[in-house]
Amino acid sequence: MITAKSLTLEEKLKLLTGKNLWQTEDLDGKVNSIFFADGPHGLRKMKKNAHGYYENIPSIAYPNLVNIANTWNTSCAYETGKLIAEDCVENGVDVLLAPGVNIKRTPLCGRNFEYFSEDPYLSGILAKNFTDGVQKYGVGACLKHFCVNNREIGRYFQSSEIDDRTMHEIYMTAFEIALTSNPVAVMCSYNPVNGVYASENKKLLTDILRKEFSYQGLIISDWASVKNGGKSLGAGLDLRMPYSETAYDELKDAYDKNLITDKEINNAVNKILETANKLQTMRGKSKITKDVMGRRKAALAVAEESIVLLKNDGVLPLGGSSVCVIGELNRRPYIGGGGAAAVTTEFVQIPLNSLIGEILSESVICTDKVKLDCLDPSHNDREGILLASKNDVSIVLVGNSPATEIEGHDRETIRLSNKEERLIKDVAATGSKTVVVIEAGSAIDMTPWINDVQAVVFAGYLGDNANEAIADILTGKVTPSGKLSETFPLSVENTYCKTDTGKGGVEVYRDGLLVGYRYYDTENVPVLFPFGYGLSYASFDYSALEIEKNGDTDFTVSYTVTNTSAVDGKEISQIYVKDVVSSVFKPNKELKAFSKDFIKAGESKRITVNLDKNAFAHYNVISGGKYVENGEFLIMVGASCTDIKLKQKVSISLPAETQYSVI
Ligand code: GLC
Repeated sequence: MITAKSLTLEEKLKLLTGKNLWQTEDLDGKVNSIFFADGPHGLRKMKKNAHGYYENIPSIAYPNLVNIANTWNTSCAYETGKLIAEDCVENGVDVLLAPGVNIKRTPLCGRNFEYFSEDPYLSGILAKNFTDGVQKYGVGACLKHFCVNNREIGRYFQSSEIDDRTMHEIYMTAFEIALTSNPVAVMCSYNPVNGVYASENKKLLTDILRKEFSYQGLIISDWASVKNGGKSLGAGLDLRMPYSETAYDELKDAYDKNLITDKEINNAVNKILETANKLQTMRGKSKITKDVMGRRKAALAVAEESIVLLKNDGVLPLGGSSVCVIGELNRRPYIGGGGAAAVTTEFVQIPLNSLIGEILSESVICTDKVKLDCLDPSHNDREGILLASKNDVSIVLVGNSPATEIEGHDRETIRLSNKEERLIKDVAATGSKTVVVIEAGSAIDMTPWINDVQAVVFAGYLGDNANEAIADILTGKVTPSGKLSETFPLSVENTYCKTDTGKGGVEVYRDGLLVGYRYYDTENVPVLFPFGYGLSYASFDYSALEIEKNGDTDFTVSYTVTNTSAVDGKEISQIYVKDVVSSVFKPNKELKAFSKDFIKAGESKRITVNLDKNAFAHYNVISGGKYVENGEFLIMVGASCTDIKLKQKVSISLPAETQYSVI
């Protein structure tokens, strides 16, 4: 393998910057090049069209990361990563620029659809499995955006001002967990952190990523996030993307002034060469297991598992009554958010009303009264209201277009549009049982209308399988099993950040550890729907909690979940830990394990999860590492973060020499 020592300085400096928008330098074929492409929701590979402009090749649109998170199913994360990897292999892409693991600190963030959760543990575990799926099938994954990039407004210049403990416990934990899958690359974020751009932040890239987390892969910039190539190389960045015409001169100037060393240059060059060769080896092991239709079909199960039933007075599942579908999303659903993660799909949706009609006409519960109308886009809402008045059940389709939830922008409100809110209330006022289906990528304030309707389904962004998955859930062909991975607040005014966006180029993370449910639960702030909440057509009971101590900080937690309904279903049980007495501030409870289990109607399942040191530790800024303080911890098993079913205290008593004096 060619290494830095066999290259000239000029060749090495060229190698440190991309050759074009998506590829690394190949030095006229002397070394292997790396081809990057977005994204987490499907392959967004760009090619130049006849006019010389870059455009996306058509590809399969998969459920967005918000949906993967709402499945709480590691297999769904793995499967989706694998399917997109096959798209990459088929199109000659070496590294998929995914998954994003930034934490959902505010529901206004325009890119929440592209991240997993407000909780670092859930985000990390799902990102790890997504990464494993991508890399098992011969393609490199790229964890992003490192780090503390939690809104889009000002992302190119606004510094995230944050204390060490919060940064480690909330904003880096997802990266730390996902790094155990050894992603080929990690991408730094655009924003400064504590006043220094992430692309040239030595503490982030070298002290934490390289040394504390022992990451040995490739550290790359976000696209055009490097301000000065010399400073970035010195901070630990290996590769600047994409090509920049000033890059070579910046590096040469820094070298001539002894601001960067041969050692730093060689380290980065060798990291790039090693990665390019590693990818060639991985490519050799890649395999295509399904064709395009097969891959799209395989994603249907993920889409179905990602849908969250938030309210249901019994109107769902549909059947035995006249039903109408209102809204132009019936033919053209919102399938994903906008920006780098947007996929160009050629898949044509079957209208939702047709799919529902087809399923109901097959089902034994169908009566001849079931007829399905759909409001054509040409009709206006008044026609929809008239239609509703003639039907027992009205399905109203609403949501956020990819122009509303998009990279580079944040939402100004978490409510639906006035037009949509008006339509929902007018349809409900007709007396028709109203089912609202929301196609969006982040929390929605439903307070203006939720008491008027009989059912609410949060579909998220489902990709190509959108209408089929929604029809399967509404008709009961599939029992809903998704749960929220982001709190739905009563209003944006009820969130910690409210509509504050930082000022003067700085956003101070005064909320500290109190992010998402950690804030609402600890401060007793009421919410619309809590973290981990979701209904089913089945019902579940929890019992027989047993906790076995295996070591100083290792416990096995076992409990029984019983499906008390007549419907088979999947249940997501969640394990939260509370430090009963602590010498540092801690949130009221924190998610430390979860399990998603299929349980047949009337049957029970004994579930066992393990808790290790990470379930009890906090980041100790004095020692600069994870620290478990002796004392009692409360282990809680819940159906959501506020619906605790079982709990039991455990005690930890590590040797005195491991402990600081307790206050
Ligand atoms: C964008 C995004 C990043 C994406 C990259 C390449 O600006 O921040 O997520 O992978 O550039 O499109």
